Parts: sequence; C-alpha cells; structure tokens
Amino acid sequence: MFIGLDLGTSSLKALLIDDSQNILAEHSVALTVQRPHDGWSEQDPASWCAAVVTALKALVSQADCSGLKGIGLAGHMHGATLIGADDAVLRPCMLWNDTRSHVEAAVMDSDPQFRAITGNIVFPGFTAPKVDWVRKNEPNIFTKIAKILLPKDYLRLFLTGEYISEMSDAAGTAWLNTGARNWSNDLLKACHLTRKQMPSLVEGSDVSGTLRADLAAELGLPQAVVAGGAGDNAAAAIGAGVVKDGTGFLSLGTSGVLFAANASYKPDPATAVHTFCHAVSGTWHQMGVILAATDALNWLAKLTGQSVSDLTSDLGSVVAPNKTLFLPYLGGERTPHNNAQMRGQFLHLDHATDVKVAARAVLQGVSFAFADCKHALEATGTTLMQALAMGGGAKSDHWLLMLASTLNIPLDVPKSGDFGAALGAARLGMMAGAGVGIEVATQPPLAKTVEPEGSLIAAMADGHARYKHAYNILKNL
Ligand code: XUL
Repeated sequence: MFIGLDLGTSSLKALLIDDSQNILAEHSVALTVQRPHDGWSEQDPASWCAAVVTALKALVSQADCSGLKGIGLAGHMHGATLIGADDAVLRPCMLWNDTRSHVEAAVMDSDPQFRAITGNIVFPGFTAPKVDWVRKNEPNIFTKIAKILLPKDYLRLFLTGEYISEMSDAAGTAWLNTGARNWSNDLLKACHLTRKQMPSLVEGSDVSGTLRADLAAELGLPQAVVAGGAGDNAAAAIGAGVVKDGTGFLSLGTSGVLFAANASYKPDPATAVHTFCHAVSGTWHQMGVILAATDALNWLAKLTGQSVSDLTSDLGSVVAPNKTLFLPYLGGERTPHNNAQMRGQFLHLDHATDVKVAARAVLQGVSFAFADCKHALEATGTTLMQALAMGGGAKSDHWLLMLASTLNIPLDVPKSGDFGAALGAARLGMMAGAGVGIEVATQPPLAKTVEPEGSLIAAMADGHARYKHAYNILKNL
C-alpha cells in the first residue's frame, strides 16, 4: 500500500491506496493563509507538519497500514521556506500567490539569462524574486539562510530528515535549468546564493529517503520510502494519467490551471505560459496559470455573506454573457498578462444587477481567463483538443458547460475528481516503493463528457472579446 500527501493551499490531503490503487482511507486537514498586507500571502510551515501528523494518524486509525511501502509528496509550488541552522524556519513561507516581489521579479526578468535558462518569465510568485525581496527587506534573515525549500520539500525534511527536491517543483523557482534538469550555478550566483543552499535533486518517481524511525514509531507506520513527488499540478497530472504528449487538464482549484503534457522541452516565455519538468524523467509540461479561480468565488462569498454553494446553486441554465463583466485579477495575474499590480474589476453594473448576476459574471470572468490561457498555449504551438476537468469548481455543471463552450473543447469529467494531486503523489510513491513504471498512471474512469454548446460558442467568444478589451483599458489602473 501507498500514501499520497498533497499539501494544498487550503488543506492538506492524505490518501491511502492498496497495490491495485483502491482507496482504503483518506483524510483532510484545513490550513489557513495569512495576508498581513496587500499582495502578501503566507503560511506557517509548522502548521503543515502538525497537519501531516494529524492526517497520517487519521489514516492509521482508518486502515491497517502495516503493508505501507511508499509515500509520495505533492504540494503548492513556488513557496520560499527559508531554513536556518538546526533547520529552524526563519520566517513564514511566502506562497505562490504572494506578489510582493514584483519589482525584484521584473529586475530578474530583464536579465536575459533567466528566461534563456529557465524557459519561463520570472513571475513575482516564483521563489527566486521572493528570496531577493528578503535579501533587500529582511537582510538579517537573508544572511541566516542555510537552505531554501519548497513547501512539500519542507514536509520531506520533517518526514525523512533529507534536503531534497525534484524537477517539477524545482522548475518553478527560477533557479533551474529546465531543459537540463539541474540547478543553474549562474542563476544562483545572480541571486547572491550558492548551490549549498539548494536541496539536491531527484526525479519525482525516485526514492528520496525513508520515513524517520522516531516518527514512524510515533505514527505506527513502517519506515516506508518517500518518493521525490511533484509540484501539485504535475502530481495532479500523474493522478489523472496526463503524461502522454498532447493530453491535458483544466483545474478549477484556488488557482486555475490549463495543463498540457509535452514529450519535449518547449519553452516560449514571451507567451507567459509556464514550461516546467514533468514528474517523470524525460518529460515536460506547459501550463497557463490564473491566480484566482475558485478563489474569486470565495471572495464573492465573503463579500456577500453567502456560501459558495448558495451563490452557484440556482443559476439556471447557462446563458450568453450579460453585460456585467468580472475580471478575476484579485491578486494580479500570471498567464497571459504577467501583471502583479492589476486588481479585480466588476464592470457594467446597473439597477438590476443582483448577487446572481454577479456570481454568473465571476464564473464567466474565470472562464474567459481560461480562454486567454488556451490562446497563450496555442501561441507556443500546443493545441488541446480535449481536457480533463478537475478541482473543486468542476463539481458545478453550470461552470463546466460555460467553460467547454468558452474554450470550445469537450471537457471530460472523472467519476471522482477529488484526489488528483494526492493520487498522483501516491502513484509516485508506488513507483519509488514498488519499482513499477509510469503505466500505473492510468486515466480515471469518466462520469461524463461536457460538450461545447453550439448556441453558446459565439456568444462566449463575443464576451471574451469584451473581457480582453476591458483588460486593455484597465490594465494600468
Ligand atoms: C502553479 C501555481 C499554482 C500553485 C498552487 O504555477 O502557482 O498552481 O501550485 O496550487
């Protein structure tokens, strides 16, 4: 049996599967995000360790785990977990959607070697500019940095005592030579860092260590191996069997991701598409990333005092976009704009605009942001003909039909979409712990396929054109 651990932004999920990938036990522990200033987004790494202990204990209480052979880790990407001497955490982890370092990111991005070596724009959410922000604003912390770990790699340190990362997550730091799958000494030097401060690298399906003896004893688990694992998107792809060139998924989580698997390295930074290593050797992937997908709905729920399910439960049939537009850039945007300072907008409000109209506009705005990502992928030469729909938002049939019609591609809906990244992590744990290959990453059984609706396709394209026009007018506001 194998365990997948997915350190998400809003919860840590743990999943136990048997050798045939049947789910034996599962548990989630909620996590919180602190936003002490505009553009900041932080988590306390101690909360991840507490959550993983709670989650593993819950699995042990639900099933006999004595046959555990492997654990895989997945996690939100790009976070800067700064570790001092004795592994002390030096400050709260700055998360993927923290955009305070947009100035540092722009300076790095203007140095051509970053795009040339990493294959990506240096986005403010990436790890390198955040650490540079610390160098400038918290110099006493910067000088104490012994190691910089990505969030799930800090969990690995807690679980195994090892300082190790893997290619898919490392590709989101802006320090990796993404084509060569190795840290770039030149980029580290440009950031006043040394290789000693970096964890060593393995592939996602490799063994990275074993569960610490004391922790194994405390939890009542065998000392199973821990696989390299993957950043949450690459892990979700392994969970959904999205590895073959040309396959893809659309994830409606806190952030939104349109993901395409690639058999080769296809960087095109000018498009603001992310080009990262996939979780198995010799493969890569591209993705368009929007910072607020279900997070935009969460925002509206907070604003209106209604729950997300109240907001979305009674929207009726999908209709052509009304005049009310929503631009979901609550914390800036990555693909295709690379604009950290842009903020969300509601446009065209009139006396008849009510909460339902606003909720529909939010769903439409996020759908248009996904259409931008699809066009950006197409500009790199990657065309998705179909995609799996995953994440919490994919439970809404209304949103799926709107998205399928806006992107004009069929969306496949898995029977169970809840455990994408945790299942992918468990599969990587299986590859490392049982020596099996990527063939274990099969596509999930489908509940249905949502086809674009003829009458909506042109209406959504018109709405998308208005949305782009609105962005161009408002982008410097
Ligand atoms: C990807 C990204 C997000 C996070 C959080 O580049 O920033 O998808 O991994 O899920």
